[in-house]
Parts: sequence; structure tokens; C-alpha cells
Amino acid sequence: MNFDKICILGLGYIGLPTASTFASKGVKVLGVDVDAQVVETLRSGKLHIHEPGLREMYKSALESGNFSLSTEPQAADAFLIAVPTPFYDDRTGDYQGRSFKLADMRAVSSAAEAIVPFLRKGNLVVLESTSPPRTTVELVAPILARSGLKPGRDFFLAYSPERVLPGRILRELIENARVIGGITPASAQAGADLYAMFVKGEIVQTDATTAEMVKLMENTYRDINIAIANEFSRLADRFGVDIWEAVSLANRHPRVKILSPGPGVGGHCISVDPWFFVESAPELSPLISTARRVNDAQPHYVVELIKRALCGSDFPQAALKGKRIAALGLAYKPDVDDLRESPAIDVVRLLGQEGAQVKAWEPFKPDARLQDIEMAASLEDALQAAELVVLLVAHSEFLTIKPIELASRTGARVVMDAVNGWKSAEWQDAGFRVVRLGVGTKH
Ligand SMILES: NC(=O)c1ccc[n+]([C@@H]2O[C@H](COP(=O)([O-])OP(=O)(O)OC[C@H]3O[C@@H](n4cnc5c(N)ncnc54)[C@H](O)[C@@H]3O)[C@@H](O)[C@H]2O)c1
Repeated sequence: MNFDKICILGLGYIGLPTASTFASKGVKVLGVDVDAQVVETLRSGKLHIHEPGLREMYKSALESGNFSLSTEPQAADAFLIAVPTPFYDDRTGDYQGRSFKLADMRAVSSAAEAIVPFLRKGNLVVLESTSPPRTTVELVAPILARSGLKPGRDFFLAYSPERVLPGRILRELIENARVIGGITPASAQAGADLYAMFVKGEIVQTDATTAEMVKLMENTYRDINIAIANEFSRLADRFGVDIWEAVSLANRHPRVKILSPGPGVGGHCISVDPWFFVESAPELSPLISTARRVNDAQPHYVVELIKRALCGSDFPQAALKGKRIAALGLAYKPDVDDLRESPAIDVVRLLGQEGAQVKAWEPFKPDARLQDIEMAASLEDALQAAELVVLLVAHSEFLTIKPIELASRTGARVVMDAVNGWKSAEWQDAGFRVVRLGVGTKH
């Protein structure tokens, strides 16, 4: 199948790199976003997101004349939907007294509706957004059928999950294996033909619901693995063990691969997607929902450790009241600017709720405006009056901080390391008391 023009709906972390990559292969691409400001920013040659290498690639795509932008779709050979699939903030489901989060699929529905007037016989539509099982056949196909065309007979429809890692998106888009699930085998083949334009990894065809489930299984597997690492970190603390050493020793077993504990799980993939299973079949997913709860509770545990760092094991009720804390990092993981669902933000908010005066420094988003969070203007600003420094994200620039130098820039003499980013001995030598997540007090 030939694709001369592709319309990509949603120009965020997934849609924009995908659109730029197609355009760099000589295809005419129309990038569509409902956010007029996103379209305006992109038209002016600027980016609204940070991703290594994207600026250059986008610029050359724009200059080649292959990339145009709009807030509405136009006729094309293929339509790709890469819009957000978060959960509702204000609505939850309930199963036997345990609440679960609900997927907000409104962006997918409205993107599919926007395609309807432009859909032609022989077109291909691919949903890339991470979605609950059966979304392609039960939500997207019926909307597209309003065009009068029959999905699978008159046009091709497929689901293809995205697996890229923020920070390495441009490389992984090309190199990762890609799963394409068609609502018919011919739809899967059409999807495979489309992505073969740039994908160098294996392209594997299956049906749409399998492809949806594969994506959710991948992220759920990681969420559960991190949940057990987080639970191990609490047990290690109890038993006077260093969890980081213990995990590294356990992982020398040829069939064991425990992930790292940390302040929680964030980003809008791993911390969101497992709920899609729970919502679809709560009676079949008790392990998945428990893992979600364990990871969501981890920021509370970090706050307990901070109290212990400041006041010792018998900390009083109001241990944090008036304490001045410098929080380093707000992103959901190292070296990215993505703050969505970040557990670091949860930690800072919880500290604030208990009366601490926190200044947060996020070098990748210094201008972020977040409810109930005071942003520092610089690292210096965060450190200035602090009594305790908490490392919440292992950004490279934090890991290279020299304790001796930091000691001269702050009065704080206590550090809490929630990500195993700093060598305790070096900090202790520089005069700091160090509390590390997952390192027992008896150690
Ligand atoms: N970011 C990742 O690393 C990643 C990885 C794998 C899968 N995914 C999945 O990909 C999907 C997109 O994620 P993202 O990170 O690119 O989101 P994003 O929030 O960065 O960008 C989505 C864009 O879609 C736009 N949008 C919303 N509704 C729209 C509509 N009806 N029509 C056109 N545009 C619309 C928004 O304005 C926004 O600019 C999600 O389902 C996500 O779970 C993301």
C-alpha cells in the first residue's frame, strides 16, 4: 500500500516525533492538534516539548515543506491517532470497597470523530494511544463507521502501541520492534506497510485487541516489578539491610531481574496503564490493583524517612512544621522534563501539607507552575535556607554534585537520597548526615 499523505492527530511526545520522522522520509504530513497554542508554537519553528534531537529533526521537516500544521484534519491516505489517554481526576470506580481509576477516553473519541468527514475508501486509521482492551473494535470502529464506510471492508483499522522511552524517542521509534494489530489481517498488513517506511526493528502483525493487551501487559509487568522493589526497600529498612546491595546480589541469579525502588512510579504510562486492566475486569486483577496502591503509597514512605532524617526515629506529630527543605527534581524520571504523575511532586506536596517550607528545583522545567509548590529559581535558591536536601530525581546534573562544594552553599547538614544517586560515604565525609531509601537504620 502507498502512503503519500499522512494525518497525525495529537502532536505531543509521541505524535510530534512520529510525524517528524515520517516527514523526514519524504511523506507529506499534516500534524493536527486541538491545542491552537501548540500549533502556533510549532508553526513558528519552536517546540513545546523537550526531546533530544527533535528540534533539529522537526526544523528540517518543516523546512522541507513536507510538514504542515492545523487544528483540524484533512483528507489523507492514513490517519494516526496519538492523543492522551489519562485517567479521570474526579471519577473513580469501585469494586468490593476498593476504588480504581477510570480511563478518560474523550480525546480518542473526539479524534476519531474529527476523522469521520475525511475518511475515504481504502484509507488506513491507526490508533497509537495506550487504551483499555477492545477500544479499537468497541470505541473507535463504531465512531468511524458513522462515515458510512465499514471498518475492515472499506477502510483498514489497526492498533499499534508505542514503546519508546522518553529521552531516546527518535532512536527507539526506528529501532524498537513494533506490534501492529489489525481488526482484519489486511488491516494489520496495511499498518505494517505504513510503519515499514521507517521502522528498522521487527514488525509483528496480530489482531487489534491482542496488540492493546500487549501494551498494557508490558507496563503492568514493570509496575508490579517496581512495587515489589518498593516493598523490598521497606523490608530492607526494617531489617537493617541495604536494598541496593541486596537487589544487585539477587540479580546475579540468572533468572531474577528485580527493578529499582524509588519514591514511587510516575509518568503517564506505567502509573496509568495498569488501571485500564483493573477498570475492565476488577474481579480478575487483584494483584495489579495492589501493586498500583503499593507504588502510590511510596511518596508517603519517603516523607516518613524525611521526618526520621530530621528528628530521629521517635519523631513528633508535627515533625515537619516549619522545616525548610530543598527538593531536587520534580520530573517523573531522570533527565526528562515530563512532570506528569510524578511521585516527586507528590512528595513535595505531602511535605507542604505537613507544614514544611519546601523549595523545589527542577532544572528541566524551572518555570513550571504547580499548585501548592514553591519553585526555586535556581539550585542556589533552593539550597540557600534549607535544613535538609532531598534528592527525588536522579538527573545527571544532581549526581555530579560534589558534597564538599554543596556544603559551602547551604546550611543544611542532612540529606535524604530517595533514588540511590549519591555515595553516602562522600556526603558523610563532607559533614552530612545521610538517610537513603531502602537502607536500614541498623546498617
Ligand atoms: N509519552 C510517552 O512516552 C508514551 C509512550 C508510549 C505510549 N504513549 C501513549 O501515547 C499517547 C499520547 O501520549 P503523549 O505523551 O504523546 O501525549 P501528550 O500529552 O504529550 O500529547 C498529546 C497531544 O494531543 C493533543 N490532543 C488532545 N486531544 C486531541 C484531539 N482530539 N485531536 C488532536 N489532538 C489532540 C493534545 O493537545 C496534546 O498536544 C497516550 O495514550 C500515551 O499513553 C506515550
